[in-house]
Amino acid sequence: MQENQLQDLLKKMTIDEKVGQLLQLAMPFFEGASHRGHITGPMNEMGLTEEDVRNTGSVLGGSGAREVKNIQDAHLKNNRLGIPLLMMADIIHGFKTIFPIPLAIGSSWDLDLAQKSAEVAAKEAAVSGVHVTFAPMVDLVRDPRWGRVMESTGEDPYLNSEYARAFVRGFQGKNLKEDVNHVAACVKHFAAYGAPEGGRDYNTVNMSERQLRESYLPAYKAALDEGCEMVMTAFNTVDGIPATGNEFLMRDILRDEWGFDGVMISDWGAVKELIPHGVAEDTREAALKALRAGVDIEMMTECYINNVKDLIESGELDVALLDEAVLRILTLKDKLGLFENPYRGADEQLEQEVILSEPHRKVARELAAKSCVLLKNEQVLPLSTDTKVALIGPFANSGNILGAWSWHGQPEDAVTIQQGIEQKIDPSLLSVAKGCDIEAYNGEDIQEALEVAKDAELIVLALGESPGMSGEAASLADIRLPEAQLTLIKEMKKLNKKIAIVLFNGRPIDLHGVIDEADALLEAWFPGTEGGAAIADILYGDVNPSGKLTMSFPHSVGQVPVYYNHFNTGRPNLNNGEGYVTKYLDIPNEPLLPFGYGLSYTTFEYSNHALSGDVLTVNDSITASVQVTNTGEVAGEEIVQLYIRDVAGEVVRPMKELKGYEKITLQPGETKTVTFTITEEQLRYYHSNLEFTSDAGRFEVFIGTNSRDVETLSFVLKK
Ligand code: BGC
Repeated sequence: MQENQLQDLLKKMTIDEKVGQLLQLAMPFFEGASHRGHITGPMNEMGLTEEDVRNTGSVLGGSGAREVKNIQDAHLKNNRLGIPLLMMADIIHGFKTIFPIPLAIGSSWDLDLAQKSAEVAAKEAAVSGVHVTFAPMVDLVRDPRWGRVMESTGEDPYLNSEYARAFVRGFQGKNLKEDVNHVAACVKHFAAYGAPEGGRDYNTVNMSERQLRESYLPAYKAALDEGCEMVMTAFNTVDGIPATGNEFLMRDILRDEWGFDGVMISDWGAVKELIPHGVAEDTREAALKALRAGVDIEMMTECYINNVKDLIESGELDVALLDEAVLRILTLKDKLGLFENPYRGADEQLEQEVILSEPHRKVARELAAKSCVLLKNEQVLPLSTDTKVALIGPFANSGNILGAWSWHGQPEDAVTIQQGIEQKIDPSLLSVAKGCDIEAYNGEDIQEALEVAKDAELIVLALGESPGMSGEAASLADIRLPEAQLTLIKEMKKLNKKIAIVLFNGRPIDLHGVIDEADALLEAWFPGTEGGAAIADILYGDVNPSGKLTMSFPHSVGQVPVYYNHFNTGRPNLNNGEGYVTKYLDIPNEPLLPFGYGLSYTTFEYSNHALSGDVLTVNDSITASVQVTNTGEVAGEEIVQLYIRDVAGEVVRPMKELKGYEKITLQPGETKTVTFTITEEQLRYYHSNLEFTSDAGRFEVFIGTNSRDVETLSFVLKK
């Protein structure tokens, strides 16, 4: 449609019809939905009439080609102007072919594969009738107590921004109207949802505007620069104002400064939550605040539908605000081609062919293997195919490895670690026992495990958190493995055999009772549908692990938030804790495992670190280079990392900031030179007056295999 046709359509709409476009309801509310029978209660509670549902603009959780078509058909008949529904759903890391959780994808440092995973997810979702996905989630995270760290790619603004772009490219493709195999993306949760006090979900977020701009906003902005069509609000407050009623965030920054003209949706129920937050007396005031602040679609609550008309008629709300919100929604529908093709990609035949297809599983397997991080290996891995292995633990034969946001993913479709190993070795060499449940154990199960492992040469322990222990509303104050599994480790140690532990989890955990007891430790996260196959690929050396952490692993929970790009303080701990310096008496300041850390089955030697010059000017660049040699026996991939520190800023600068990385493959004995270009632009940051500029002076450059083990060089910026 032309813009003037959309305007004409808007003119034909009554106020009720307009307000209806601003409402999003779950699938069962709609005629044609298979579970419609249960909806009378919720409709009454929300004060909704059938007329309201007929005017509604979008559907939450709309998927399943047949059902979506039925709903769309009924809606087009019932809606006076025939405005199609938008189908939105949470396709976070896969539709039915589930990829590793985003925190795991982060560890791959592989943007192409990340993009590919979003493409596959988009395709499966699109044929199933989805138009918009509520992804990517790009909230920067520093506190592993928060269960939703699993949905983020980690603690670094630069890397998160790169992933944000990759995911948007993958989900949206190049042309949403013509390419019905892609879906519109909705970046979330705007803003700073990843910094709740105490790591408790939905909790207060307090930070300076400088920090907000420096660390938290870049990834949302990156997604929008890549063309992301939608933005979702966050549940938290930012400087005392709930994000969902925050004019500064949504009008000043998002719309005015960044020029975003797409659709803004509230998070689930977040408009109404302005009441318990304590900034709105009732649903009427909540509607007024949210719409004024810039929320176009209200997800799952009734503040707009029951109040906006009245607010306009009473003169409290300018109808122009309603019109601009509706126009944005109609524009998105048009961009998706829904006026011409209301079913869009929904196709029962393709659903059968595409979903969980072999090519999709292949991408999932590759990405799962690249997302695993080898945390420790004392000459135990890779295993030889003639080793007699006992596979023990609650995850030994569990398909519950998809993660909390896998929605359509089925554990039955997942390859378990047992099934993965069975593809590699003779069945007579594998014995399996559960040992304990995730959170409970009994003597009998442990005895059985001891018995099963008695004759094995090596024990693989498959341990971790249940998928429900991370994700939304799943914060933990204690991030150790559950006691039952720590007990299982202790018991298995009694057999005096080598132990390789494989961990399934959604957050960095406190590794007390795990890492010291293990001879090898592989972080597999929630690896998705092909998880067990990918892990077996790594255990048996068919894939050499190359993942590196994008979120620090703390020594213990008392250390969090702990992240690599921290400040030095005025009293850095330079002398082993001696004197009045910044320290803990009982643990180090540094995390147990730093950002960027991960081992390989081979070894890499870094040499000849060099800068092309020691002075950088504004219109020039200098080159940092390093030679990396594979000094081991097998081919491997290494992620070479570049960090920079501004030694004396106008405001305090982080000790290190990731500015570049390169993933290289090296054959045994092979050497490659990796080069990074450094320009003045990369040295800019927000000053106290919020100006984004650089300072003349000395900068340190760090190159290395992780954020801790680096060589330092330096140059001077002259301006
Ligand atoms: C979550 C969002 C999600 C939405 C819709 C909310 O509870 O915070 O991330 O997109 O539900 O399912």
